[in-house]
Amino acid sequence: MISFENRVVIVTGAGGGLGRCYALDIARRGGAVVVNDLGGSVEGTGGSSEMANQMVAEIRALGGRAIASADSVASEAGAKCIAEAAMDNFGRIDGLINNAGNMRNAPFEDSRLEDLEAQIAVHLVGSYNITKAVWRQMKTQGYGRVVFTTSSAGLFGNPTQSGYGAAKAGVTGLMNVVANEGQAFGILCNGLMPNGMSRMARRAAEGMDLSKQQEKAPFMAELGNAMDLEFNTGIAVYLASESCHTTHGIYSSCAGRIARVFIGATEGWQGSRQEPATAEDMAANFDQILVLRRGILLPMTPIDEHRIAITKPAPLA
Ligand code: NAI
Repeated sequence: MISFENRVVIVTGAGGGLGRCYALDIARRGGAVVVNDLGGSVEGTGGSSEMANQMVAEIRALGGRAIASADSVASEAGAKCIAEAAMDNFGRIDGLINNAGNMRNAPFEDSRLEDLEAQIAVHLVGSYNITKAVWRQMKTQGYGRVVFTTSSAGLFGNPTQSGYGAAKAGVTGLMNVVANEGQAFGILCNGLMPNGMSRMARRAAEGMDLSKQQEKAPFMAELGNAMDLEFNTGIAVYLASESCHTTHGIYSSCAGRIARVFIGATEGWQGSRQEPATAEDMAANFDQILVLRRGILLPMTPIDEHRIAITKPAPLA
């Protein structure tokens, strides 16, 4: 059994939805949990300590250890308070699940800059703030597990979610870099693309136009229980645990299927390394640039990509 005895984990946005499932499971496994939740609406407006407090009461009623925080991850000061609360109450920080999120959907032409900014503030800036707030402590411990919640809306695309998708893709970029930096210090960072019928997902479904709902309806029935939020708990908790030894990955959890998602490169077309290629060279060789031939290359850093360009052995999927 994967144990969280003597481990301290911060779960942001844990007052309800997916975060609630993660926090409960970690507490059941003996971990001390900082339940952070702003307690606002799906859009990210408002706030109250009620959601976090209720969740803590639920964990304590089960005999678990937890404290509540209603600070916003979107503020640097709020994120510092969350990390300080973990240190003051439990004395260390082993795991962080960046799960807090808001959502404001609209067709692109109707989308508003203030909504894009509000979503970037919670997903991307929020993940940055709290990860930075725990980083030094994890580095000192020589141990840390950080899970970044990203989304198929950002990595694959989804109509009406330009702001949300941009924020979630940004979270992936942040994960890629801190994974590079953290590995030497025992801090392993991974991305998770969950799927589950939370209040946020219900809101997204309500906003879908009729044709999309009809397209989705036939296979929704076949999904069985698999849109239950708990179907994401196993992978989230595993990535936050000592049993996870991998870093710099992105994992999709969708209807009971867990799969690695990656940003890779085709073998590509190699031009001259003395003279820059022209637009006409691109037109003439675009098929080779586009097409997967022998395998997918998975550069983990820009240096990897340079190695690929000079045909030194590169990681192959
Ligand atoms: P949810 O709305 O139930 O949970 C999000 C939680 O974050 C809420 O409890 C909310 O109060 C909290 N929150 C919002 N702003 C905050 C802030 N500034 N500071 C602290 N807490 C804040 O929705 P759900 O679905 O459980 O979402 C959890 C995460 O999973 C989010 O990051 C979401 O974007 C992501 N996600 C969910 C998917 C799904 O199918 N449910 C799909 C892909 C990603």
